[in-house]
Amino acid sequence: MQKFYSKYGRIFDLLPELILILDDGKKIVDHNAAASVKLGLSAEELHGREIDSIVAESGRKAIASLLQSSDQGRHLESQFVTATGEAIDVDLDIKVLEGTDRQYQVLIAKDITGQKKRDLDYLRFSNVIEHTINPIQITDANGLMVYVNPAFEHASGFSKEELIGKNPRILSSGRHSRDFWGKVWRYILGGKVWVGQVENRRKDGSPLHTELLISPIVGDQGKVIGFLGAHRDITEQKMLEQQLVRSQKMESIGTLAAGIAHEVGNPLTSISSLVQVIQRTTNDEPAKEKLELIKNQINRIARIIRDLVDFSRPSTNVERPTDVNRVVRDALNIVQYGKKVKGISFEVELNESLPPLMLVADQLTQVFINILINAVDSFEGKSGTIQVVSGLNDGSVEIRVIDSGKGISKDDRDKIFEPFFTTKEVGEGTGLGLWVSYGIVRNFRGDILVESNPGKGSTFTVVFPVKG
Ligand SMILES: Nc1ncnc2c1ncn2[C@@H]1O[C@H](COP(=O)(O)OP(=O)(O)OP(=O)(O)O)[C@@H](O)[C@H]1O
Ligand SMILES: [Mg+2]
Repeated sequence: MQKFYSKYGRIFDLLPELILILDDGKKIVDHNAAASVKLGLSAEELHGREIDSIVAESGRKAIASLLQSSDQGRHLESQFVTATGEAIDVDLDIKVLEGTDRQYQVLIAKDITGQKKRDLDYLRFSNVIEHTINPIQITDANGLMVYVNPAFEHASGFSKEELIGKNPRILSSGRHSRDFWGKVWRYILGGKVWVGQVENRRKDGSPLHTELLISPIVGDQGKVIGFLGAHRDITEQKMLEQQLVRSQKMESIGTLAAGIAHEVGNPLTSISSLVQVIQRTTNDEPAKEKLELIKNQINRIARIIRDLVDFSRPSTNVERPTDVNRVVRDALNIVQYGKKVKGISFEVELNESLPPLMLVADQLTQVFINILINAVDSFEGKSGTIQVVSGLNDGSVEIRVIDSGKGISKDDRDKIFEPFFTTKEVGEGTGLGLWVSYGIVRNFRGDILVESNPGKGSTFTVVFPVKG
């Protein structure tokens, strides 16, 4: 048996790598202690063994072909198989050793099974994080972002490139106080996991509500090396909550309006009849004229109250033949009482020979109220004119609302019918108006078309087929 000693004895028994020395017939003639231990084979069992018998089948060809050369830079990754059938991943260098009598091939194999397993674990984890629907961000110890997953990019509207290296503050909505974040920081710096709800702001300025878990990432030495932030998007839920509050508010306004109408309506009727009595009995002409003015104002109040009551009455939800022009007039009446319409005039041009349509009038009133309010809002306080035109076109009834307000940008035009899309200030609009309107109109087999010239104005056209 060939034994390879150096001047200091068998140094290679001290090395952690598996070392195997082969003769030119690819038989093992010597090996180090690590090889015997890792392969689970004694010196007797190893000696004279074909190298193939300890190489996994898939790797044999590659090793055989490398063994044919005497190049000193031969390198490959392969797999050995132990006595118990376990696979060891190895990083293999093959060298030539000039013996006194002849050449030997030396296999120096580094066990990389642990590293391979770590690589695989890492791959699995990174795949999960890359593909989860939960937005995830990782920061370094200074709180600067070093990783965000695609879900995070999607939710925030920012790209990876825009986020990496930045403080998560760029998503701040300004809704939480310094004190709030101070407390969160103290908590996580103490090594604890923080969970809570936060409101951030997306790149386009819209709110992003999430349930957030922040956990410190602790390194080998027990030091905090970064932070993990895992989010769950709860924006829709939050918005629905707000909408619920709003619709409950609307409902209570309705009840209130009905109550007021009742309370105010009765005395108003008494005043009105008294005015008429005095008008009939007096001969004082100037007083008669004043009474006429009073009567007009009383009628105006009565009309407002009637509209309020009509609007707040729950919808019947029954489709009836409906005069669309009447619906448009009702909506106009309601919108014209609004505060914002100062300086805005309405030009109304209704074709009186429209056929009746099968609709729920209350619901359609709501559609026109929203379109008209949007048109009023588009002037942003400036004065101008809103045209309302109805007519028949190509077998369809069309109602156009034309404003000369600020218009809608191309990008926004694709989104205005989405729920919660609004360009208005918080509290000014929830972005549900057009969404709800579109739903109602589609329900009656109709459609809403939009044309707009940014800076010049917009036209909203509601179309209903007469037949169908
Ligand atoms: N006539 C218009 N001119 C300009 N922009 C408009 C017009 N109508 C709608 N928009 C745009 O479409 C967005 C969505 O309108 P929508 O009626 O759905 O919501 P909103 O008016 O913002 O809020 P809400 O109606 O729920 O109070 C508006 O915020 C606005 O940006
Ligand atoms: Mg609106």
